[in-house]
Amino acid sequence: MAKYKIAWLPGDGIGVDVMDAAKIVLDKLRLEAEYIPGDIGWECWRAEANPLPDRTINLLKNTDCALFGAITSLPKQEAEAALIPELQGKGLVYASPIVRMRQEFNLRTNLRPCKAYPGNPLNYKEGIDIPVFRENTEDLYSGVEFFPLPDEVREAVKKHNKKMARFDIHPAGEVAVTLRINTKTACRNIVTDAFEYAMKYGYPSVTVVEKPNVMRETSGLMVRTAREVAKNYPAIKFWEANIDAICMWLIKNPNDYAVLVTSNMFGDIISDLCAQLVGGLGFASSGNIGDKYAVFEPTHGSAPKYAGQYKVNPIATFLSAKLMLDWLGETSMAGRLEAAIAAVIKEGKVRTYDMGGTSSTIDMAHAVAAKL
Ligand code: NAI
Ligand code: MG
Repeated sequence: MAKYKIAWLPGDGIGVDVMDAAKIVLDKLRLEAEYIPGDIGWECWRAEANPLPDRTINLLKNTDCALFGAITSLPKQEAEAALIPELQGKGLVYASPIVRMRQEFNLRTNLRPCKAYPGNPLNYKEGIDIPVFRENTEDLYSGVEFFPLPDEVREAVKKHNKKMARFDIHPAGEVAVTLRINTKTACRNIVTDAFEYAMKYGYPSVTVVEKPNVMRETSGLMVRTAREVAKNYPAIKFWEANIDAICMWLIKNPNDYAVLVTSNMFGDIISDLCAQLVGGLGFASSGNIGDKYAVFEPTHGSAPKYAGQYKVNPIATFLSAKLMLDWLGETSMAGRLEAAIAAVIKEGKVRTYDMGGTSSTIDMAHAVAAKL
C-alpha cells in the first residue's frame, strides 16, 4: 500500500494542464503516493448545481491531503444561467468550493511563499523572500452577508451602535452588508503559525498587516493579539504596518520584509501583490493548512483563454507540490524539488510564455524532472 493517499483535483481550464505537469514531476520524485482523482468546479456546478459534490468531500475525508489545480467561478446571475435546463429557476446559488473547503475542513492557515528565484526574468528585484500568512476562514470572507438588509438586523445593529442610524435614509433594497468577523482564536493561531515559520526557517522579522486606526475592533483584535504572541518570540523582530502603507513599502523596499501575517481579505490582496514581485501568477503557490488536513494549490485561476493549450507556467503548481511535501514531512524530497525548480529557472533555457519563452507546460515539467 502506498504511504500517502492524495486527492487529485485538477478542476477546470488550465487546472488540468498544470496538474498533468505536476504528475510528471511527482512521478520522477517517486513519492510513494496513490493519487485519487476527484471532481470539483464548474462542470460539477453546471450538471449537479454543486461545485464541490459530496463524493469529493468524502474523498477529502479519506485522504491525507489534496493537490488542486484551479476552478472557474462566475457571479451569481451568470452561474445560474449556466446550469443545465432541469436545474434552472430553482433559486440555486453558486458558492465557491474553495471557500467551502477552507471552512468545512477548517483549513485555517493560508501560506503563500513569495520568493524571487535567481534568474527569473520576471523578478521585480532580486533577493525578495516574503512568506505571507493569511487567516483563511473568517473576516470579510465569513459569508455572513445581507441584501436586502432585513429590518431586524438593521434595528439590532442600531440598538448597539448609533453610527448605523446614518443609513436610515436608504431603503432595505439599497443597502448591502457584509460582516467582518474575526475571533481571538483565529488571530492567535495565524500569528503563532507565522512566528513558528519564521523560527523554523530563520526569517528575521514578522510584520502584522492590518488597519487598526480605522477598524478598531477587528484589526485592533488582530494587532493586540499579535503583540501578545510576539512576546513569546523575542529573537524575531515584530513590526506593525497598515495595509495601505505596506502596499507602497513593498514596492519601494521589498527586501526589508520577511514574514507577513494578516487577516483573510487583506491577505488575499497583499499576497497577490507579493506574488507579482516574484514573477506573478505562474510562480504563486499556496497551502490551505488545517490541523488535520491541507489543500495545496497554485493561486491562479482557470485562465479559460489558455485552457488545454499546455502553454501556461506550471511552476506555481510545482511549488505548491513542494509545500505539500514539506507538510507531509517529506522535507528532503521537498528540498530536491525546490532545488530542481530553482536550477531550471537559473539556467533560463526552458521558459514558458509568461517568462518570455516558447516552452510548453510539459516542456517545463520535463526540464524540472530531468534535474531530479
Ligand atoms: P486567472 O488566474 O485564471 O488568469 C488571469 C491571467 O493570468 C491569465 O489569462 C493568464 O494571462 C495569466 N495566468 C494565470 N495563470 C498562469 C500561469 N500558470 N502561467 C502563466 N500565466 C498565467 O484569473 P481570471 O482570468 O481572473 O479568472 C479566470 C477564472 O478563474 C474565473 O472564472 C475565476 O473566477 C477563476 N479563478 C479561480 C481561482 C482558483 O481556482 N483558485 C483563483 C482566481 C480565479
Ligand atoms: Mg486571490
